[in-house]
Amino acid sequence: MKQCTCGRSASYPYCDGTHKTKKVVNMKDGIIDILDQNSFIIHQDETVPEDKAGVLGVYTNKIVEIPNFIDPEIVPKMIHFFENCDVEWGDIAFYGSSGKGIKTDSEIMKQFGLPDEFFEKLKNKYKETVELVFGREVRANTSHAQKWDVGGFASPHSDNSDNDGKPNAFEINKYVGILYLNNDYEGGELYFCDKDNNMQTYLSIKPNVYSYYVFPGGYENIHGVSEITKGTRYTMVSFWDFADLEYDEETKERWAEEERQVRIEQAKQKEEWLKGNKYA
Ligand SMILES: [Fe+2]
Repeated sequence: MKQCTCGRSASYPYCDGTHKTKKVVNMKDGIIDILDQNSFIIHQDETVPEDKAGVLGVYTNKIVEIPNFIDPEIVPKMIHFFENCDVEWGDIAFYGSSGKGIKTDSEIMKQFGLPDEFFEKLKNKYKETVELVFGREVRANTSHAQKWDVGGFASPHSDNSDNDGKPNAFEINKYVGILYLNNDYEGGELYFCDKDNNMQTYLSIKPNVYSYYVFPGGYENIHGVSEITKGTRYTMVSFWDFADLEYDEETKERWAEEERQVRIEQAKQKEEWLKGNKYA
């Protein structure tokens, strides 16, 4: 599809396709203001039959893109903040990728030229979006900045279960939302796999910069990220659970123990990565 240099496809509402970004409207504090479902792009929207859905009660594989979610002028400040705030990047489960939690002190926001309570407002807008798309109330889990360096990739996975649908310690992650902050990289496509056909990719998306994508990230939507071949890919990722679910202490303890085991496995995996075996 034809792309304007502003990063959007030429058919996008705020781009006239002439390599000039039209004045971005519908923004408040650098964040999309009114969510208009007519502007949403539906990449996939099927009901998943119960026997194919896993056991977490997610019966849709909907993948929805909300274009122009963030003001292009604020994005460089966000990336500058992620790179320079006093929180270290930490390893995460995927080779060549790292993440960091977001501190939101108002003095720090000012220092980086970001509006006061910027990340709180962004998170509220994420929540409103996820609830609008999926038609149910959600509760925030974790949210973090994430970057992918050259060579980074994610193998096909579910965010809340193993690849056979058995829930794991991350079963609270029913939905995921990803905001894409740049497009000056190559590779790094978000792809979805057919688990009934040898994990063949059936949908591959080159994410549009400034768009927010939401989808159930579990067994119903096994997904991965293709290798980044040039540049650094920046995103902000947040996970969501159904608001009406309660978990007992026993379940939380089981998750904590499972998570400890996962961290041990990840440490071993990292040792392999350092030896040059990136597919470990
Ligand atoms: Fe994922």
